[in-house]
Amino acid sequence: MRTCAAGPVSSARLRDGYPRRVLKLVVLISGTGSNLRALLEASEDAEFPARVVAIGADRDCEGLALGEEFGIPAFTVPFTAYDSRDEWGDALIEQVRAWGADLVILSGLMRLVPPAVVDAFSPDLINTHPAYLPEFPGAHGVRDALAAGATETGASLIVVDNSVDGGPIIAQERVPILPGDTESTLHDRIKPVERRLLIQAVIDIANSHLDLKELAAS
Ligand code: GRF
Repeated sequence: MRTCAAGPVSSARLRDGYPRRVLKLVVLISGTGSNLRALLEASEDAEFPARVVAIGADRDCEGLALGEEFGIPAFTVPFTAYDSRDEWGDALIEQVRAWGADLVILSGLMRLVPPAVVDAFSPDLINTHPAYLPEFPGAHGVRDALAAGATETGASLIVVDNSVDGGPIIAQERVPILPGDTESTLHDRIKPVERRLLIQAVIDIANSHLDLKELAAS
């Protein structure tokens, strides 16, 4: 066991003699949480510089069960329990703040967050989107790409601002649309790309290879 200013630190946490930053993540979902699962599985590697500290949802959804499976606290702030989006947003801020997140990840949260949520967390508030933004923003990016007859679409990772999927692009990658694709087959081809972009971005942020404040200001 080596020591440093922060006291004894396991060698797995030391990089060039200094403890690496381990990002605390809160991940917000509304669906199956397949991208969340990828983060949780990555977190099981001691070298991965982040840990999901809490899972949140705007409704009861399949992905909340991942909290049980991986032993991560999960909370729900039901959108329908509040009289307005702003009141829901204020309750969400309170919940997320309680976990002391370094980074809040919207990964399948099917809600536009109100300005107060953006103000509270952005640029440490990022979103995965199943299209090559600015193409096909909004809740039906996969369906819209198919409907447009596009031959390719993509996956994007952005900093959340007050626009609809118009925030600064952190990473994106093209995904082909194949003849006979349905919304489901195409989405299933996009999601693994989203996960790879998300995992790499978390690593880059933790290792200071990516500065979200700089990106958002550029
Ligand atoms: C993802 O493609 C995400 O980008 C989009 O909704 C999907 C959620 O999938 N907003 P899952 O719930 O992570 O499986």
